[in-house]
Amino acid sequence: MRHRAVRRRSVVWGIGATAGAAAVGGVALSAQASSGTGGSASASGGLVFDREGHTTLTTTVTDANGDDHEVTYRFWKAVPYVAKPVDEKYQSLNVSVPVTIDGKSVDAGNAPILLANAVGGYLPSSVADATGVGGGGMTGVPGGGGSPSPGASAGSGSGSGSGEVQSGGNGMVDARGGMVSLPKLALAAGYVVVEPGARGRTLTNDDGEYYGTAPAAIVDLKAAVRYVRANRGRIPGDTDRIVSSGTSAGGALSSLLGASGDSPLYERYLRELGAADASDAVFAVGAWCPITDLEHADGAYEWNWGTNAAQGTGKVVDQTVSRELVAQFAEYQASLKLRGLNGFGTLTARSYDTYLLKQYMEPSATSYLTALTESDRASYLADHPFITWKNGRASFGWADFLTHVGARKKGAPAFDAFDLSTGENNLFGTGTTGKRHFTPYGLRHDTAGDTGTRLDADLPAKLRLMNPMSFLTGGTPNAHRSRHWWIRLGTKDTDTSHTVSANLAAAAAALGDDVSHLYYWDEGHGANSDPGDFIRWIATVTGHRRRA
Ligand code: DHB
Repeated sequence: MRHRAVRRRSVVWGIGATAGAAAVGGVALSAQASSGTGGSASASGGLVFDREGHTTLTTTVTDANGDDHEVTYRFWKAVPYVAKPVDEKYQSLNVSVPVTIDGKSVDAGNAPILLANAVGGYLPSSVADATGVGGGGMTGVPGGGGSPSPGASAGSGSGSGSGEVQSGGNGMVDARGGMVSLPKLALAAGYVVVEPGARGRTLTNDDGEYYGTAPAAIVDLKAAVRYVRANRGRIPGDTDRIVSSGTSAGGALSSLLGASGDSPLYERYLRELGAADASDAVFAVGAWCPITDLEHADGAYEWNWGTNAAQGTGKVVDQTVSRELVAQFAEYQASLKLRGLNGFGTLTARSYDTYLLKQYMEPSATSYLTALTESDRASYLADHPFITWKNGRASFGWADFLTHVGARKKGAPAFDAFDLSTGENNLFGTGTTGKRHFTPYGLRHDTAGDTGTRLDADLPAKLRLMNPMSFLTGGTPNAHRSRHWWIRLGTKDTDTSHTVSANLAAAAAALGDDVSHLYYWDEGHGANSDPGDFIRWIATVTGHRRRA
């Protein structure tokens, strides 16, 4: 059973040894201490990466097969990536470049670049205090920095939050600096790793103004890409082979980065920050459980989980609200005119359950069960009689699948809550207003059904800037988008609707892009069960061969 095996080994994941920083090329530790000099933002008004401003670190990386590798790498810390930062703590990036792996020297000069964001919950994310590769994480959450579980970060809906990742008890892993660290795996594979921080929704200045709400985080990630590309030849790695990764809100931003490459719609925000003058397109996208398409997510959520009891209350949500939202989903889904993968017809509210079952859920269960020993499979099937196992394939019905998943994490509406309690309400805050409605439905409910009430005038444009679907659908796909998509999601993830990822995949595939999308059986929010496959996929899509 490939996924589970990887997961177990991932539990022992970690840094085996971090040797003291050594000076390289005559550059002393002070280079690290004066981290801001990694690429002085002010130097001649430019954004020039200081090649010498690194320390050299050694770490032991346990790969996805459980094998240890000793990696010596150059580490540039907290390099500001814009000339006019609003908050340098977040608008800085770390760069890690492998020098030797298992004692053999590697030339990463032309290697793919993994741009790994550590955003969770649309919260601020800083790499400024990292002591090495893979050390970034969210800040601004109760309990401080580090890497809380994805669920804990959500602050969304009326769900309980932190339960999902830990509660499965089957070793689910977190791709954001928890048990799986894509930055470390990428480094041990010989890739260059860039870890950007980004502003997040909770940040306020002394005047109480929110400066990290939408679209700040995506603007920051774009600025980081521009910085890397503008420093081609100074930052090692192939700047035409930037592969973005992220989980949950970070997965949403990763897919948005891929979909919106070079869009002029962000230009004024980038200019305001003094972003480098370069392309912000990325070559490929890795997105785990992307929480995206937010303005349509309430309807999608009810379509998917509307009849499941809610976590915490144990009761179904208001079914009138749920049904109204499902009707919105039906309308939206029809408007997309998307066709399913593998020749499936048009994806509609009526056909989507069959599509999810045939394209994703049954194949997911099949690969899970195939990988089990015969006796483990027999006992799993005995415990889950809703699954029919025949000729090496699993099949089951939608209603049984929903029952199997169990409690939904969020209330209704899941994203634009009537009481403005979600993280997304905060994400769309502005000025000194910390929380706003961002759907007409949420707004009108809150204003006693006054159908004349309109969303604030700035919101439609901001919603567009936050939604990858606006760059993939609607007749004018973005020509500078990523052409390679890796999308992953746990079948038990109820942080959003399963249709969100599936629509993203279908939209990219409809444009002729290369899409790898599968669901991890019985996994919850934040799972990353095949990280080794992702690392290999990067080599495949970029055509990379490690050079000595
Ligand atoms: C995340 C989870 C959510 O449920 C959500 O609404 C937004 C973000 C997250 O884990 O990043």
